[in-house]
Amino acid sequence: MKLRNIIAILLLFAVGCSQSEPVIYSPDGRLRAEFLVDEAGSPYYTLSFDGMEILRPSELGITTTAGELNRDLSLVSVKHSKLDSTWEPVWGQYATIRDNYNAMRATLSSTNGEVLHIDLRLYNDGLALRYTLEGEGEIDILDEQTKFAAAEDYEAHWIAGSYDDDEYAYMHTPLSGITLDAMALSGNTSRQLPYPAVNTPVAMVTSNGTHIAIHEAALWEYPAMSLKYDAESNSFTSDLAAVGEVKSHVTLPFSTPWRTVIVGDRAGALIESTLTLNLNDPCRLEDTSWIRPMKYVGVWWEMHLKNSTWDMGGSAPHCATTENVKRYIDFAAEAGFEGVLVEGWNIGWGWGERFDYCQPYPDFDIDEIVAYGRERGVMLIGHHETYANVVNYEEQMEASYDYYEAKGVGAVKTGYVGRIPNRYHNSREMVDHYNRTVVEAAKRHITVDIHEPVHSTGICRTYPNLVSAEGMRGQEWQAWNSGNCIDHNPTLPFTRNVAGAMDFTPGIFDVRYHNSINRAAANEEYKVDEKHDYRFFVNSTLTHQLAQYVVFYSPIQMVADLPENYKAYPEAFTFIRNVPVDWADTRALDCKIGDYAVVARRDKHSDRWYVGGITDGTARELSVAFDFLDKDRCYRATIYRDGERAGWDSYPTDHVIEQVEVSHDTVLNIAMAAGGGFAIEIE
Ligand code: NOJ
Ligand code: CA
Repeated sequence: MKLRNIIAILLLFAVGCSQSEPVIYSPDGRLRAEFLVDEAGSPYYTLSFDGMEILRPSELGITTTAGELNRDLSLVSVKHSKLDSTWEPVWGQYATIRDNYNAMRATLSSTNGEVLHIDLRLYNDGLALRYTLEGEGEIDILDEQTKFAAAEDYEAHWIAGSYDDDEYAYMHTPLSGITLDAMALSGNTSRQLPYPAVNTPVAMVTSNGTHIAIHEAALWEYPAMSLKYDAESNSFTSDLAAVGEVKSHVTLPFSTPWRTVIVGDRAGALIESTLTLNLNDPCRLEDTSWIRPMKYVGVWWEMHLKNSTWDMGGSAPHCATTENVKRYIDFAAEAGFEGVLVEGWNIGWGWGERFDYCQPYPDFDIDEIVAYGRERGVMLIGHHETYANVVNYEEQMEASYDYYEAKGVGAVKTGYVGRIPNRYHNSREMVDHYNRTVVEAAKRHITVDIHEPVHSTGICRTYPNLVSAEGMRGQEWQAWNSGNCIDHNPTLPFTRNVAGAMDFTPGIFDVRYHNSINRAAANEEYKVDEKHDYRFFVNSTLTHQLAQYVVFYSPIQMVADLPENYKAYPEAFTFIRNVPVDWADTRALDCKIGDYAVVARRDKHSDRWYVGGITDGTARELSVAFDFLDKDRCYRATIYRDGERAGWDSYPTDHVIEQVEVSHDTVLNIAMAAGGGFAIEIE
């Protein structure tokens, strides 16, 4: 045990064991949180890691119609508790998860007798805190004043604050660089907050290399939290989305979602953290056998390439014809993928139309398609785009899920493109709406993948049929006019993916769109040429696309390219065929936020390991230690790496596949091209 841990544990006995002391330590003794009430009766907390202050005294408080519970409070009691147990997720990064924390509950009372509990927990991977309002009857929550006062001007990786949108470019600045000007570079100013703010998870790095991510867990009956940034005090304050004054109307007693501060001594700790899941309720579904992690294909990328359109009678051929879907089913069946997503299958995609979720276009024979897929072991994944007409969707929600259940469609991807009238994507009504889709779908054994969602907060532990969500700029942005920056992908594992599974849609092989009707002509040459606007391309090498299946976490992973584009590289495609989507173990090896990420995962159903590495625009050689393998065993590794000429902007598909023997003691140097990566299958 390290000296600092011994000191911390001794301190724990000296200070923390008294039941009334408002101090807790994490089980390993490295994190320390203290709760205080000052002379004005305002509650505060502090957080330190290995003796270094992470958060300075940070105010807590919540305002309801019954009063402002952030001052004139008196501390009634502090009670300590702890837990150490394990549980098994239905799917995930681990086969078992340890739920181990030390906690304290501070009970406060206001001058007019209201009772507020503030719970703080310390896990080895971070802090969680939340408010519980006592009493009975109903109440309006008007505001919440949870502060996170940074101890330094940390290096931060963030997207602009918005009540509506997380599809923004990541900014990498000091905290003091969170300004309106920088927010404008991050995304769409018309949908952003009009003051310095970020959406979570926001990742930070301290001057001595501690890594921190602020987010929230278990978001039910409450708006999502953005973080308002104040440069003068170098602190964030919770900022709840709502159209009017009332943030949430609740029934007492009521507990808010958890506010979380994930902490670790390296970037990879953010990937490995299980804090968000541990803070959610156990699974509420008795039978989960119908929830299948899977790889899926989709009648999808071809519309983003403009080869076909969602609506029938549009400017290009209609995508969702029975014949075209069968072609994808054949491709999936041959490769062993279990699902085919079909967008543009139902009435309503035309201008001024309303979606009807029970009415297929006439050229889409749903019964024939489902039967054709079933014979070949491929399930139809349905699609419900709402174009933000949530009222229309709510009116049809139950009927549309009944329809899918009756037809044998066991999964749905939903979408909320656009501005929702009288609501934000992050406001309470929409949190309820998203959660209701998951609960209603579960009743009918349907899994859900939400696009344009409210950010993930781990409720997939409670309802594991919520298999994935978007909530970031996914690969599709590469097909549009502004694209993704080259450091976007190596930022995602430490930011968006910390919140939970993400539907990034990996696996594009034709990164230069030779098979796009509109763009093929402009893409004859691989070489860099100023005339070409590379933002329209996928700015990565082919091996980087393979690595995404390991580096990015989701129990459903799309095989996103057109079936014909995989034919050109059948050996590289073998990796996509073989890579699992459900894991027994996860180790983040070598990582630097925004620069590179190397992740190793062990298959849940075999003893194979898979390793993925991705880099930004800088070519680099990394040494990979295989000490995660069992000792005294010999393994064969198939390595897919960038070729000599490879780079995102020149020969992006150039790659080498080789086999080597590896063991627990092996260390290999692997080179990644600019925008490149590598993928390894170990058996
Ligand atoms: C945006 C989604 O992210 C994308 O995947 C989908 O194809 C379109 N909306 C159309 O629904
Ligand atoms: Ca989207």
